[in-house]
Amino acid sequence: MDSFCFVCFQKEELQPLHLHSAAMSAGSIEQEPSRKLGCCGVPLITEDMQSLAIRTLSGTDITKHYDLIRELGKGTYGKVDLVSHKSTGTKMALKFVNKSKTKLKNFLREFSITNTLSSSPFIIKVFDVVFETEDCYVFAQEYAPGGDLFDIIPPQVGLPEELVKRCVQQLGLALDYMHSKSLVHRDIKPENVLLFDRDCRRVKLADFGMTRKVGCRVKRISGTIPYTAPEVCQAGRAEGFAVDTSIDVWAFGVLIFCVLTGNFPWEAAVASDAFFEEFVRWQKGRLAGLPSQWRRFTDSALRMFQRLLALDPEKRCPVKEVFYFIKCDLMAEVRCRPSYRSRKHARDKLPAGPHCHEPGASCTPAPLKRTVLTEASAARGPEPGGGGGGGGGGGGGGGGGGGGGGGG
Ligand SMILES: Nc1ncnc2c1ncn2[C@@H]1O[C@H](COP(=O)(O)OP(=O)(O)OP(=O)(O)O)[C@@H](O)[C@H]1O
Ligand SMILES: *[C@@H]1O[C@H](CO)[C@@H](O)[C@H](O)[C@H]1NC(C)=O
Ligand SMILES: [Mg+2]
Repeated sequence: MDSFCFVCFQKEELQPLHLHSAAMSAGSIEQEPSRKLGCCGVPLITEDMQSLAIRTLSGTDITKHYDLIRELGKGTYGKVDLVSHKSTGTKMALKFVNKSKTKLKNFLREFSITNTLSSSPFIIKVFDVVFETEDCYVFAQEYAPGGDLFDIIPPQVGLPEELVKRCVQQLGLALDYMHSKSLVHRDIKPENVLLFDRDCRRVKLADFGMTRKVGCRVKRISGTIPYTAPEVCQAGRAEGFAVDTSIDVWAFGVLIFCVLTGNFPWEAAVASDAFFEEFVRWQKGRLAGLPSQWRRFTDSALRMFQRLLALDPEKRCPVKEVFYFIKCDLMAEVRCRPSYRSRKHARDKLPAGPHCHEPGASCTPAPLKRTVLTEASAARGPEPGGGGGGGGGGGGGGGGGGGGGGGG
């Protein structure tokens, strides 16, 4: 490799989640580095090792090696830039994570997990490029030229069924692969699905910043989003909850609803949300008929949602079950009717979700929008059980309203 590879290691050598092998090949450590078992069973490297693993680059160092093409994404975390490597012409997506939002430990975990999972064709690949700048940690990923799945969903209409099925097939395989390694993504949503073409013939799962091992106890995140499972919404802030694959299955169910309809099914899976409440009654068999926004689906699709969105996480199906359902027709032929269009127009003027006390025929929850699960500091910050310590740990209450609120 050329001089720009600061953490060079052969992928075959890198055991799953063993960061030290990366650091060892970059430095001159001979013996097995002393490592404590970090939170959630992800081995952590010591401070020494961490400093060996990463080199610092100034802004001019970066422009010496890379041409900036454009920004691909931006958030509270930092940004993702499309660059081209000057000497090879390779395009790559550089993910910059602001040091004020993320500890080195968490950055290295994201890089390491992404690297480990990169062997799946349905998961974004990383390049062996990791460095830090004055205020950011940076790693390079392959560039997905089609952008993300969120950006191609026609609001309140949804994507064609065939295209959705292609996405679901590939995402199902990505998730099943992660789950087989006891890893839970924890931030499944269309924004984190990257496309290599507009027809979704090749899509990949990305953004492993929240990924943790099954059984890991995490703090309840501040703010919920429509993809958050009800048991996660309910978890108390103090005790946190144990990470399980079933929360990805729930989010996957919500994602499928979103891409098929162009709407959220609810703003949050909490009792105070009228749309969720109605769905709960349907799931429990206590509703005559079907909530209105679910009427466009076939019986097969409804059975799929019943399984993916089972209220009891124990009864929720494994991801694999979607492969059976996507062989069936999912949408009933109602979407193109003129009556649907005029009703949709009327709906646009209605207040969203919780304000709409009559989730009957004429209401839909808030239209689709990009969502942020939590303050970046809370998402990436320390977790309970790690250091024993203070109740106040991390961000404090912060972020209220981050969840469903926002624009209109
Ligand atoms: N490899 C890539 N190719 C093309 N676009 C990308 C790529 N990586 C990221 N993006 C774009 O940038 C956005 C943000 O990236 P990403 O999801 O990794 O960051 P994030 O959500 O802020 O991360 P985190 O949740 O870890 O804080 C994506 O939704 C996508 O639109
Ligand atoms: C990182 O965050 C700090 C403080 O939040 C901000 O001043 C700085 O501009 C950010 N840097 C980048 C590269 O985003
Ligand atoms: Mg993301």
